[in-house]
Amino acid sequence: MIQPIFIPVNEPLLNGNEEKYLVECIRTGWISSEGPFIKQFEEQFAARVGRKFGVAVSNGSVALDAAVIALGIGQGDEVIMPTFTIISCAAAIVRAGAVPVVVDCDSSTWNMDIAQIEARINLRTKAIMVVHIFGLPVDMDPLLALANKHGLKVIEDAAEMHGQNYRGKPCGSFGDISTFSFYPNKHITTGEGGMIVTDDAILAEKCRSLRNLCFKPEQRFVHDELGWNFRMSNLQAALGVAQLERLDEFVQIKRRMGARYTELLTGTPGIQLPLAHTGYADNIYWVYSMVLDDSVPFDAKDAMTRLNKLGIGTRPFFWPMHEQPVFRRMGLFAGKSYPVAERIARRGFYIPSGMALTAEQMERSAAAVKEILQ
Ligand SMILES: Cc1ncc(COP(=O)(O)O)c(C=O)c1O
Repeated sequence: MIQPIFIPVNEPLLNGNEEKYLVECIRTGWISSEGPFIKQFEEQFAARVGRKFGVAVSNGSVALDAAVIALGIGQGDEVIMPTFTIISCAAAIVRAGAVPVVVDCDSSTWNMDIAQIEARINLRTKAIMVVHIFGLPVDMDPLLALANKHGLKVIEDAAEMHGQNYRGKPCGSFGDISTFSFYPNKHITTGEGGMIVTDDAILAEKCRSLRNLCFKPEQRFVHDELGWNFRMSNLQAALGVAQLERLDEFVQIKRRMGARYTELLTGTPGIQLPLAHTGYADNIYWVYSMVLDDSVPFDAKDAMTRLNKLGIGTRPFFWPMHEQPVFRRMGLFAGKSYPVAERIARRGFYIPSGMALTAEQMERSAAAVKEILQ
């Protein structure tokens, strides 16, 4: 039998000014974090999300580490966050010496369930870490009202939300500190990379210092505090500047992808498809995700194996924080259960969703999903 050509789950589009700007780095010798594309990328990205300051870092995970420390969160503090997210969120809180307190997610948007937050707030609570999942933002108005009422800081993880708006305002503009990732599966990529944005000059300066080993400006190699080397290189920023030029086009490409997949898959028995809209946003389909109904006799792992055999790349959903062995070993989340996240972690997966996906690849991927559900 002829094996079908494999469709990868993600392929970026790098056919704008990426090569030109990279060549510029090489010709001028500016390849470290001191190069001019860094400042340009920071300023242009911050402006795009309506923030005063941008601090480019080496990825979206360390952006969260720096954000938590910059806000002064540490020993004895609690931060409320969704259980359904990537480990980077909880890891940043735990590494700072604080405690992540999780809430379940909503079964239609897969975003954190806002209604569960208030009951988790106590005197130790310092912040809410809000994470926008898969392409639809969290309902920010009630969340910000809660944070305001209880005097809590907001860390907004907008890693997956480039170009997305909540009620017309850019995602990434809502947190005291907001963060992004530029991993290749994001709407814009720098290979590896991340950005912290804020309107607070002091927080921005703290993040700049933390990403650069907390060198003392007046006396290099003398340190009052411990930082990290979380710097982004000029090569990565060069890619970022080129990619940012095309963000609107990329959002359109992904929206067209989402609409096409939905058209092809609507009516297929046994799957819940992503919502195209909520009352406050249109999906930007960071990935095209789906959840198997309980009527389907196999789980996501099995579905992904079957799709792989048909030449279709997939990825599973996040695994909930309260079920992570590493956190359970630390005594976190003992006896806790969050049924929506537990279910979608076992029943959810996503199909090829990259920027370079062709119409034919979408048709093949959707046909394969239908085939395994027959
Ligand atoms: C919601 C969320 N936060 C943080 C990250 C971490 O970003 P990075 O892979 O750049 O470290 C990701 C990565 O996919 C993510 O989806």
